[in-house]
Amino acid sequence: MYPFKPGSFAVRNAWYVLAWADEIGRTPLERWLLGEPVALYRKENGTAVAVSGRCPHRHFPLAQGCLRGDELVCGYHGISFGPDGKCTGIPMQSHVPAAYRIRAYPVAERWKWLWIWGGDPDLADEALLPTMEEIRMNEPGFHYAPFYFHEIEARYQILNDNLLDLSHLAFLHASTIGQAANATTPEVREETPRRLTSRREMKSVPRAPVSASRNDYDGPVDRLSQMDFFFPGFHAGIDETRIPADHPERGGELIAAGRVYHAVTPATKHSCYYFFANGALESTPLEAKFEMLKVPVGEDIAAAVAIERMITRLQDVPGEYLLRNDTHAVRGRRILQAMMDREAGGEARMAASAAT
Ligand code: FES
Ligand SMILES: [Fe+2]
Repeated sequence: MYPFKPGSFAVRNAWYVLAWADEIGRTPLERWLLGEPVALYRKENGTAVAVSGRCPHRHFPLAQGCLRGDELVCGYHGISFGPDGKCTGIPMQSHVPAAYRIRAYPVAERWKWLWIWGGDPDLADEALLPTMEEIRMNEPGFHYAPFYFHEIEARYQILNDNLLDLSHLAFLHASTIGQAANATTPEVREETPRRLTSRREMKSVPRAPVSASRNDYDGPVDRLSQMDFFFPGFHAGIDETRIPADHPERGGELIAAGRVYHAVTPATKHSCYYFFANGALESTPLEAKFEMLKVPVGEDIAAAVAIERMITRLQDVPGEYLLRNDTHAVRGRRILQAMMDREAGGEARMAASAAT
């Protein structure tokens, strides 16, 4: 499905953020991942659990049930399941068939993100998670906070596309964090097996509207704007503003620095979750910064919803008229498509060997 090949939706064998860690407790919570409901809760010892959110008996939402110790009890007829997905009791009969079970998902907690592995549990590998070093969360002098969570009525790749192309700052966010140089400065791109990086170094440009009146300096600045996309749904960004090096007294001085973290998770084919976190210099209050960032984040969400509405209402979705500036976003899509193709190839080989 758009913007991927027909039949391709999302990478399954991957970690996705499905909740903030403090959202999960002793009351089951329903979220959706890759078109399936998931019930999230914590065991009595505090360990997070993710199991299917659909009772196999009559499809009742399991997150509307209750916990009995570490077991999840369906609220409809009382069938219970352990954290490993095995059925532990059927009130109407003494025999519990071994095949009566629900799916259990591997879970990993990092900082305040709760990550769920969406595919084959045997392939779950925590080494595939972005490390704190890779996303620069171990930097001294910064503090961080999780802020935003939304279920958005737009397919996840529209948000990934948005974050892979920061030229949109110049227009969509012209009243806050954007300036013309976000679109006109050449992009420097880098690719590794784990991530795709886009970097723009803007030299001697006016300050973005939101920061134009801050600090005791109002001259031109050097601005760095960078976003690292860790496949398939996590973006870690840097935004730094410095006084240009040729300033007689304050050359190179850092006058603003931000870190942004966007986790984008496919919930259903036409909706996604968006977890936003922010980092700033310890001297900058995070709440105030977030109040400002609510505006551009809201603009991104509104744009994604508008595009989803457009493509779902079109009789046929025509091909996009892509430009050289789209090279990076197209590369991001191609990487995800290749990951999906490899998964589909693996499933086809397994089905073929099972049939022989
Ligand atoms: S639907 Fe869950 S026990 Fe019947
Ligand atoms: Fe944006």
